[in-house]
Amino acid sequence: MIDFKREIANILSEKVDELNSEEVLNMIEIPPKSEMGDFAFPCFKLAKIFKKAPNLIAKDIVESIGENELFEKIEIIGAYINFTVDKEIFARSVIEEILKMGDKFGSLDLGKGKNVVVEFSSPNIAKPFHIGHIRSTVIGSALNNIYKFLGYNTIAVNHLGDYGTQFGKLIVALKAWGNREVVEENPIPELLKLYVKFHEEAEKNPELEDEARMWFKKLEDGDDEATELWQWIRDVSLKEFNRVYDMLGIKFDSYAGESFYSDKMPRVLELMREKNLLKKSQGAEIVDLEEYGMPPALITKKDGSTLYITRDIAAAIYRKEHYDFYKNIYVVGSQQNLHFKQWIKIIELMGYDWAKDCIHVPFGMVSLEEGTMSTRKGRVVFLEDVLNKAVEKTKEIISEKNPNLEDKDEIAKQVGIGAVVFQELSNNRIKDYVFSWDRTLNFDGESGPYVQYTHARASSLLRKSNVDYNKNVNYKLLQEKETMDLVRILNKFPEVVEDAARKYEPSVVTRYVIDVAQAFNKFYHDTQILVDDEELQKARLALVAAVKQTIKNGLKLIGVAAPEKM
Ligand code: ARG
Repeated sequence: MIDFKREIANILSEKVDELNSEEVLNMIEIPPKSEMGDFAFPCFKLAKIFKKAPNLIAKDIVESIGENELFEKIEIIGAYINFTVDKEIFARSVIEEILKMGDKFGSLDLGKGKNVVVEFSSPNIAKPFHIGHIRSTVIGSALNNIYKFLGYNTIAVNHLGDYGTQFGKLIVALKAWGNREVVEENPIPELLKLYVKFHEEAEKNPELEDEARMWFKKLEDGDDEATELWQWIRDVSLKEFNRVYDMLGIKFDSYAGESFYSDKMPRVLELMREKNLLKKSQGAEIVDLEEYGMPPALITKKDGSTLYITRDIAAAIYRKEHYDFYKNIYVVGSQQNLHFKQWIKIIELMGYDWAKDCIHVPFGMVSLEEGTMSTRKGRVVFLEDVLNKAVEKTKEIISEKNPNLEDKDEIAKQVGIGAVVFQELSNNRIKDYVFSWDRTLNFDGESGPYVQYTHARASSLLRKSNVDYNKNVNYKLLQEKETMDLVRILNKFPEVVEDAARKYEPSVVTRYVIDVAQAFNKFYHDTQILVDDEELQKARLALVAAVKQTIKNGLKLIGVAAPEKM
């Protein structure tokens, strides 16, 4: 692909000794309106150097450049030199690049040789994977895809909440009132029931709490029975979580959760003591963070047991040693902001300079619009139910829109689940938002189905024609404003991916695919594509193919399928 910006930088630095090409590159702007050209170079700085009016300097430079085949127009607008790229060269460069790169279009090798750990999802064993968890799961998975696309070697980690005193309670409840077969059939809801039952019974009989503590202690000491029961609880829970991950098409490279670090605690405590970071406080040990404007972090309890934060410190050290990460990313809700600030500070105080590479990526909360879901027992909304309902509703919609569609079940899955994921990733992650079916499944709004439908429309155009748009395309024929606007948007995709990675913000990609879909639909509306003139048809189809590819690649990054028909 021709990098027009760089070409401009080269031309200008050649003509003006006082400018070097990198400098110019940083100064080039995009004009506010496409009628004003594609790039603009401001002459204010040169005006200062030469003590001359900027428009006069612009005039000198433009005259010395003369004609350049890459640009249709080089003109002076106010204090700027504006460049309008040659439409034919531009369209050819962009479209051919997209068609050549295919599924790789937009990818870069920025991250070659660098490891990035992306931790996301991290649900708690024996607790429901609820609608709130979907945020971490889909944001994290998208970031993982985006970093991978940029050439980083990513490691997707699911830091399962599989350790802590609640396991003592579950073991007591399981032994007293549980039945493994019943639990296996419906793991999380049944385990949740047992957990609730434990608390009800413990109100009446406080000795149960002691018993639970004893069982957790046994688990920590490696007792066979406790370990077997804990393992079983973990396995059946994970099986249920995996069902949801499968629906979403998400895979992890590691399920090293909190329990994984239990035997790594003594060393971590030792390291913290060496650095004189631990202070006794009523029998417990804390790190005093007052100096940094934060409450103290509790590292060990009176009975010597460790806490969530202690396990996070151990996990970070393990990840550095094991993966030698370039970045260590945590996709966890903003309620845990303080927790992350505290432990990253502690890592810094321990003398690890890689504390700066540990990044908490927070997000806001999701709530459900009234009447969105009826809840199962326990008043929690299960993510799996939301996904299933989305599929069901989608099936109704597509049966009406396209009754003869083959493979309706599979497409309803791709569109229904895609719609929920897309909706999740539509807004800035930090914003709280309200989930609504109307917005999620609106085929005409800024939704997943709308973008997927646009992709299917492009696919259908390509199916209908038998013109080969891969060879001998006359790009001179692409001239109209809507057409060029579309090419310009496609050209931005690689920058968009980079921007999303830099901001840890998958919604940058989501918004972008909506822009592509809208620009395409405008083009589709204003331009006849399957025209009789074969040459013209070929040029327009090449553009359609490039749009289809770009939408597909964008959707893939955010974890949404791109069906050919719907
Ligand atoms: N299991 C925790 C929860 O559901 C999230 C874990 C986040 N990750 C971490 N390294 N602390 O709240």
